[in-house]
Amino acid sequence: MPTATMTPIPNTQYLDVHALRADFPILHRRVHDKPLVYLDSAASSQKPQAVLDAMERYYETTHANVHRGVHTLSEEATVQYEAARARVADFIGACCPKEVIWTRNATEAINLVAYSWGRANLRRGDRILLTEMEHHANLVPWQILAAETSVDLDFVPIADNGTLILDDPDRLLTPRTRLFAFTAMSNVLGTINPVKELTAAAHRAGALVLVDGAQSVPHMPVNVQELDIDFLAFSAHKMLGPTGIGALWGRRELLNAMPPFMGGGDMIREVHLRESTWNELPWKFEAGTPAIAEAIGFGAAVDYLDAIGMDTVHRHEQEITAYAMQKLSEVEGLKILGPGPEQRGGLVSFILGDVHPHDIAGVLDSMGIAIRAGHHCAQPLHERYGIPASARASFYIYNTEAEIDLLVAGLHKVVEFFSY
Ligand code: ALA
Repeated sequence: MPTATMTPIPNTQYLDVHALRADFPILHRRVHDKPLVYLDSAASSQKPQAVLDAMERYYETTHANVHRGVHTLSEEATVQYEAARARVADFIGACCPKEVIWTRNATEAINLVAYSWGRANLRRGDRILLTEMEHHANLVPWQILAAETSVDLDFVPIADNGTLILDDPDRLLTPRTRLFAFTAMSNVLGTINPVKELTAAAHRAGALVLVDGAQSVPHMPVNVQELDIDFLAFSAHKMLGPTGIGALWGRRELLNAMPPFMGGGDMIREVHLRESTWNELPWKFEAGTPAIAEAIGFGAAVDYLDAIGMDTVHRHEQEITAYAMQKLSEVEGLKILGPGPEQRGGLVSFILGDVHPHDIAGVLDSMGIAIRAGHHCAQPLHERYGIPASARASFYIYNTEAEIDLLVAGLHKVVEFFSY
């Protein structure tokens, strides 16, 4: 039985986790005088030294505004900022950097499509297809749009095992369906959805596809051209990068045809008192001074993940997740939400008897173990299962089976403590 003070050890066949953990300064801190066991990467991942260094180096040596100056610092900042865009574009298999629009996060990327493409293209009677497992970020922007434009929202239901029920695609993908927006991986159930098949079904019906990649791009290979999707939204902070930056990838011809999302500096070609013309892609969608250091940090994060290889990242997490599901199922009264390990990414949400998830998370925190508790910004999904909240442990490249053992030991203590 592991003790609360043991040092996590490398233990999957795919990654030298021990060596890798040395790159993450925060993993060496203690919480409540216990070694930190960080199992909340689906909410936000930790950052390797390479990302912290890239941002610090930029501020120490290069910082100036981009696209505006003719002086050396501005030119160097612009080169680094645009090089980061090219690295992120390459990471997702985009044809070219101009298809990658910087946003604040995946949420803003989805809002950009809803406000720009949605308002320009949708009319009363058109339909948008979503799923019951969406994060609020892929629900609320469409609800706002629906209220303004009188488009209708449809939802792919979820089976009890946490997978989508789309056995009758023609019923949900109607001739009036203009967009199918769905998550590639549920942030609660862990379900990995069959993006390619869902996209092919949507395209057969004449609908465009927007994929919420917030939980997939950080954890598995994603190639937008192979998947044949139309839009992809994702965030840097869930993939070893900083907060404050994310991206919308979109097909060039769609982005070119879309009106700007926000107005201001940098997104224009010419401005007169009563009219303006727009910059070319990607800057047409990037009003105001952007998150320059954050973009550079995002580029460094992508370099770090690329050096490991996304297949390796995914296999490591599958191994950790299978181990976690097996160990968690031994805890008295614990019920796991979602499908088996073969269909899920690196997270496990669960309920434990009638102990409130916040109480579970509180007890675990006292042992230095960080998990998330609540509805995880997916309230309709919890309503579907008839529960107000769940507890969630989520994994990344730096997590070990020894940490899962600590989590499980902690949960046994929760059971004892609440002795239900
Ligand atoms: N979307 C993030 C999560 O699932 C915040 O925790």
